[in-house]
Amino acid sequence: MTSTAANDGSRAQAQIGVTGLAVMGSNLARNLARHGHTVAVHNRSKAKTDVLIADHGSEGNFIPSESIADFVASLELPRRVLIMVKAGDPTDAVINELADAMEPGDIIIDGGNARFTDTIRREAAMRERGLHFVGAGVSGGEVGALEGPSIMPGGSVESYKSLGPLLESISAHVDGIPCCAHIGTDGSGHFVKMVHNGIEYSDMQLIGEAYDLMRRVLGYSAAEIAAVFREWNAGELESYLVEITAEVLDKIDPQTGKALVDVIVDAAEQKGTGRWTVQSALDLGVPVTGIAEAVFARALSGSRAQRAATRGLTGGDLPSADEALAGRDADAFVEDIRLALFGSKVIAYAQGFDQITAGSVEHNWGVKPVDLATIWRGGCIIRARFLNRIRDAYTENPELLSLILDPYFRDAVGGALGSWRRVVTTAVTLGIPTPGFSSSLAYYDGLRADRLPAALTQGQRDYFGAHTYERIDAPVGKKFHILWSEGGAEVEA
Ligand code: 6PG
Repeated sequence: MTSTAANDGSRAQAQIGVTGLAVMGSNLARNLARHGHTVAVHNRSKAKTDVLIADHGSEGNFIPSESIADFVASLELPRRVLIMVKAGDPTDAVINELADAMEPGDIIIDGGNARFTDTIRREAAMRERGLHFVGAGVSGGEVGALEGPSIMPGGSVESYKSLGPLLESISAHVDGIPCCAHIGTDGSGHFVKMVHNGIEYSDMQLIGEAYDLMRRVLGYSAAEIAAVFREWNAGELESYLVEITAEVLDKIDPQTGKALVDVIVDAAEQKGTGRWTVQSALDLGVPVTGIAEAVFARALSGSRAQRAATRGLTGGDLPSADEALAGRDADAFVEDIRLALFGSKVIAYAQGFDQITAGSVEHNWGVKPVDLATIWRGGCIIRARFLNRIRDAYTENPELLSLILDPYFRDAVGGALGSWRRVVTTAVTLGIPTPGFSSSLAYYDGLRADRLPAALTQGQRDYFGAHTYERIDAPVGKKFHILWSEGGAEVEA
């Protein structure tokens, strides 16, 4: 029901307000109301507020307002407002309008996909005015917003004391544990949501490569590949993305009767969170190679004019698929692909968690990887069975230097290597691009190598730029230089 006044005739008091009532905002407001909270609702254009109340007003206690002033006045203290508007300037506009109407101790939550650096700036500006500013990653799309998302709130510990019970009540739950936890201070919530999306991009790219190999090497139909993904979803690859892949591949285009995937233009778009992840990783010096290849694969697929010109280039003298499979039957190759997908997926998460750790150290956020593994088990787009394993890994060893050092993942990846190498070799032999599988395997081989060609790189840098090098037989950090053009003697730098 819709409240407009409390018993004493004053304005009813809402525990939280939502402004920005597009589908995500409306669904979060409905989710909050369904969980017994009185929810103040507002939208710049009143029509969206009217639609929410008309269509869903009976789902709980809503207090609609046309003006920001009335909206803020309808909130109990400390006032809590969730902003669900487009990232960037629109968010700044709403923040400033709210801040003018709110008082010290009140809380502004940005639930959009804001850039974490914007959130750091906004949190500092609001703190100056005595307000709490919380950047909260919200994952799970429109369905998740209504039925239970994974929520990643940053901001002050004090703000989480006030917000936590509300947000945890509407988040997804796994084994009775909410998929919501205080991530860390200022921009940490939006940072980990950004990395979540980077992992999502990598996951989706790897699934795409598995699909492409079954399509092009085995000649499977979309429906046959859907059946394979459905089977994989019953095992260690169980995840939301594998599950929906089977749904998408099974979908028939009503217009042509063909598999929908065959009438979709093969140019992937991206709103930007995956790109931000890679930009941040470059700044942090974290090699998120799988995530980067996924972002670039989307860009390559979208370079339509260039692809139109390059599409016919020769692949060289390519063997047939049967020759490349060298006697392996289809089932054996499908199992190889499954293990290559699993191994590459582990690398994607390992790189993502490395970036989260590096970001937390850089910004002094105090983020705990185990918290992310816990709250990403449900509600979010990358929810997957093996997040339980990641949670176990970081519970066992919070200081894990890489996910692949955890015994379970060390052995699982080790056991996948034969298949993984065969898949990458087969793909290369047949001229089928697998940037995700290949880069992830190269990353793994790089990490496990005794010596890397970086020694030669250091020698080259010292030759042309006198950039110095360290010696394996000298103390760490001690720098040397060769007087390349003056006789070649080595000097301590
Ligand atoms: C989520 C999703 C979501 C994502 C959109 C579009 O966690 O619910 O990651 O936040 O932004 O699905 O993503 P791209 O356009 O970047 O693919």
